[in-house]
Amino acid sequence: MGQIYTVAITGLGKRGKVHADVFHRVGRFKVVGLSDVDKSKYEDAAALCGNPPFFEDTAEMLKATKPDVFCFCTPPSIRLPLIKLGVEAGVKLIAYEKPMATSMNEAIEIRNLLRSAGVKSVLSHQRKYNVQFQKCKEVVDSGALGRIHTIYATGTGWMMHLATHLADYMRWFNGEAEAEWVVGMAVGRGKLTDNHPSPDYLAGFVQFANGVRGIIEVGDLAPDVPEVDYWWRKVRFIIQGTEGFAEVHVGDGWRAVTKSRGWEGSAEGTWDADHEQVPYIQDIALWLDGVKHHPCDGESAYKDQEIMCALMRSAVQRRRIDIPLGPDEPELEALSRVLPE
Ligand SMILES: NC(=O)c1ccc[n+]([C@@H]2O[C@H](COP(=O)([O-])OP(=O)(O)OC[C@H]3O[C@@H](n4cnc5c(N)ncnc54)[C@H](O)[C@@H]3O)[C@@H](O)[C@H]2O)c1
Repeated sequence: MGQIYTVAITGLGKRGKVHADVFHRVGRFKVVGLSDVDKSKYEDAAALCGNPPFFEDTAEMLKATKPDVFCFCTPPSIRLPLIKLGVEAGVKLIAYEKPMATSMNEAIEIRNLLRSAGVKSVLSHQRKYNVQFQKCKEVVDSGALGRIHTIYATGTGWMMHLATHLADYMRWFNGEAEAEWVVGMAVGRGKLTDNHPSPDYLAGFVQFANGVRGIIEVGDLAPDVPEVDYWWRKVRFIIQGTEGFAEVHVGDGWRAVTKSRGWEGSAEGTWDADHEQVPYIQDIALWLDGVKHHPCDGESAYKDQEIMCALMRSAVQRRRIDIPLGPDEPELEALSRVLPE
């Protein structure tokens, strides 16, 4: 069983409810408070997690409940102020939604704040727990692909929804090798004013220190994944090596063809809370116990953010962008300045 940790949650929309439900039912957490700017969201979320009290204000909730874990599932523009509240309240861990921030400047501030306070963080890049991702990773790690040279990641959803997911699983398949530089391009202003602000399409190349080349395409010009019906799940990864390839989709299956193992795969895949959110939340408890490092930790999410922001900077500046990134003009503002009407 292990120690029970307390958790308070802000943002009770679609993802907030998934968090409330799973924190409540994995047996390692007690949900002690819920908060949202829209009180009408409370009832449904509360019913999923033992009816903890509602707080109009996150600061009040953290002061009253003093949780071990502060979880927030708000739109992408609401990050740094909530990170500050969590750090000031002395929580042990902050669990929040991707993307880490809407700009590199904000991500740098968040990382510095969490590091200097010694507060752990995790972000929901939880797709990698799904069965087909685990199977594909097993083939990649077995060495059966030979020398891996290329990892391709595409998704038809737009950048602020998907780009850090793509970068995260690309880095995971690539053994967490460091990204060295990117070259990117961006097209279309239609989503710049969305609540997940993005160019309509972002694409580019990522050079990793281990020699692997990453290729990312995200947005409306990214290729269809006809194997998958549900639009949000039209996400494909292909890992190519000298002795074969492996491929995985979100919400669908995986396959691999290698010289040593032949054809492997299945059209069945998972994409549900039990397969991705439950182990993600269980790993939060194990990380707090000191037993296991969390595979979705904030330092890793920072590197995903760097790839997304470097691609935008490259699209604006029309040159190679080296990683690590320092502060600069906020990437979306720069894109909004240069993308043609
Ligand atoms: N990891 C994943 O698989 C995944 C999937 C979908 C969405 N997301 C991410 O989750 C986040 C939330 O998405 P969602 O689909 O749950 O959105 P949503 O609109 O359903 O819910 C957001 C909630 O936040 C509340 N909110 C807004 N501002 C607030 C504030 N200042 N303080 C407190 N509450 C506030 C809103 O009232 C709303 O209830 C986004 O960053 C999104 O990208 C992640």
